[in-house]
Amino acid sequence: MKVLITGASGVLGSAVREAFKSTPHQVLALSNTRTGDGLVPLDLADTQEVDKVLTEFKPNWVIHCAAERRPDVAEKLNVDVSGHLASLAKSLKYTLVYVSTDYVFDGTSPPYTPSARTNPLQLYGRTKRDGEQAVLSVNGAKAIVLRVPVLYGPAPKNSDSAVNILLDVVQDQSGKQYKMDHYATRYPTNVVDIANFLVGLSEFKQSTAIPPILHYSAAEPFTKYEICLVFAKILNLPHGHIVPDSEAPKGDSATTRPRDCQLYTKETEDLGVEGGLGLTLFEEWWSEYLKK
Ligand SMILES: NC(=O)c1ccc[n+]([C@@H]2O[C@H](COP(=O)([O-])OP(=O)(O)OC[C@H]3O[C@@H](n4cnc5c(N)ncnc54)[C@H](OP(=O)(O)O)[C@@H]3O)[C@@H](O)[C@H]2O)c1
Repeated sequence: MKVLITGASGVLGSAVREAFKSTPHQVLALSNTRTGDGLVPLDLADTQEVDKVLTEFKPNWVIHCAAERRPDVAEKLNVDVSGHLASLAKSLKYTLVYVSTDYVFDGTSPPYTPSARTNPLQLYGRTKRDGEQAVLSVNGAKAIVLRVPVLYGPAPKNSDSAVNILLDVVQDQSGKQYKMDHYATRYPTNVVDIANFLVGLSEFKQSTAIPPILHYSAAEPFTKYEICLVFAKILNLPHGHIVPDSEAPKGDSATTRPRDCQLYTKETEDLGVEGGLGLTLFEEWWSEYLKK
């Protein structure tokens, strides 16, 4: 089988690439600006080049991890490019996995089932929701939307992940004070777990039983402040410089922190993909990872 991964230089994409290394499948790992280590740079906004690369490679699966948060480019990459990859899924007959986010929901009534009404609060969530619609509206294309919450895992720089970066906050013992969100509940999910699930999904025999929208999420709830406490415990560092902020966000920031976007994962578990959700425990994983 041939698997093409977009955003293979990103946090999730690199884990997906790593997971497919232990399979016999042939993988094409696409990046944009980052190069080396077998990455093939391709600007997905260049439709002609995209058509050429995909037509030549003839993938069976495309795992679309590339995405953008920057407002000027988010619309193009998250919506238009995703829709185009779905059109190609139809003509080239591959299965497209579009990785989406729990931020398509407004966080007011968790847990959210795959069919729950979306109501994104910020531009990023809106473009990802529009991307979902673009992908699912191509009649005759095999497309799966995989919604995931905030991600963590192996990353070259802590700033690559909104979770890993909290290590820098905990380790900053310079006397600087940090106000830390203790309002929004998140379900930090390990990219290695998602990657293993995607391998299982691509090898799943009853592929016709896969619903168009899947939710994948770890089950342990944390605020960002609570994540800092876990890191402080593992690293045996004082955390008095980190001050919990339990206030509901007001004004502009009200649109950036949905309270609780918990994804209901029962349908995904019930599918019977080998290995199930295979969820890692947060503190356990970090304790091992930080020993290295
Ligand atoms: N991070 C999270 O907490 C989170 C939460 C929920 C959902 N998600 C979703 O999960 C997926 C993966 O997120 P991530 O955090 O792993 O991403 P990431 O680390 O920010 O990486 C983004 C990837 O997109 C690529 N990219 C950007 N612009 C491109 C373009 N014009 N053409 C081709 N590739 C381009 C980047 O390539 P270069 O770096 O080589 O330029 C990079 O590989 C995304 O769909 C995201 O929306 C992420």
